[in-house]
Amino acid sequence: MSTATPTTRLHGIEVIDSPARMQQRMIQARADGKRIAFVPTMGFLHEGHVSLLKAGRERGDLLVLSIFVNPMQFGASEDLSRYPRDLDGDLRKAASAGTDLAFCPTPESMYPVGFQTRVEVTEVQKGLCGDHRPGHFAGVATVVLKLINLVQPHVLLLGEKDYQQLQVIRRMVRDLALPVEVLGCPLIRDDDGVALSSRNAYLSPHEREQARTLSQALFAARQAFAHGERRRDALLDRAHSILAAQPALRLDYLELRDASDLTLPPSTLTDPAVLLVAGFIGRTRLIDNILLAR
Ligand code: PAF
Repeated sequence: MSTATPTTRLHGIEVIDSPARMQQRMIQARADGKRIAFVPTMGFLHEGHVSLLKAGRERGDLLVLSIFVNPMQFGASEDLSRYPRDLDGDLRKAASAGTDLAFCPTPESMYPVGFQTRVEVTEVQKGLCGDHRPGHFAGVATVVLKLINLVQPHVLLLGEKDYQQLQVIRRMVRDLALPVEVLGCPLIRDDDGVALSSRNAYLSPHEREQARTLSQALFAARQAFAHGERRRDALLDRAHSILAAQPALRLDYLELRDASDLTLPPSTLTDPAVLLVAGFIGRTRLIDNILLAR
């Protein structure tokens, strides 16, 4: 009699919830010569995630998605308990993008009793969201390192929407010599300019209108840049003037940083820069960014 655990399939996708079984499955896939592409997510998939999955489909024989709302990256006053979830809808969307396997662990299995390790990317996590969400990037780096060890991907796909997160993970992969290629994929916007985010689901129709201010401010700075403006303060002022006209916005930060390492750029830009913004509309924290490069 076979003692092997039967494979669970939902919408044609193999679904695994046990970290140990996931690692075994992926060791076998590697031994079979499969190239593994991996998209880590917290679920409630939108077109941004779908674009990552499609890019992964082109880069691997086995396309793996993880869905895990990672408690370690949420602060005490944040939205962990109300974070939107829809496993069935997620698997449907993932299937349409050609996903082979979904890893959907529980918090107890990822962080069993006695878990105590934290990964800190000490410099890149400073400033920006790192200042406003203490401990957030340690939570992200720790879970992504664990996921990489379980999934053993050849290529890891992440969105540029979470720009600082992408740089934190790139740095961790480089510093720890993890044998994985990190591929950053472009931020996707809705027709109204708002960056796609699972958290947009929290916005009322009125708040959604107000949320457009973030991208409008970034577009205004990009337009000034396109017309030749290179002075850091002038670009920031341009975006600030749009943000200031939206009383519903509680701004966390608006900052210009070097696009490759997030250091402060010189007062006159010479290299590609990224303009990053974060703030609250009502109870919903939104982030957005735009690249300023020739
Ligand atoms: O970007 C996200 O959805 C999460 O931060 C990630 C990378 C899946 C880690 O939990």
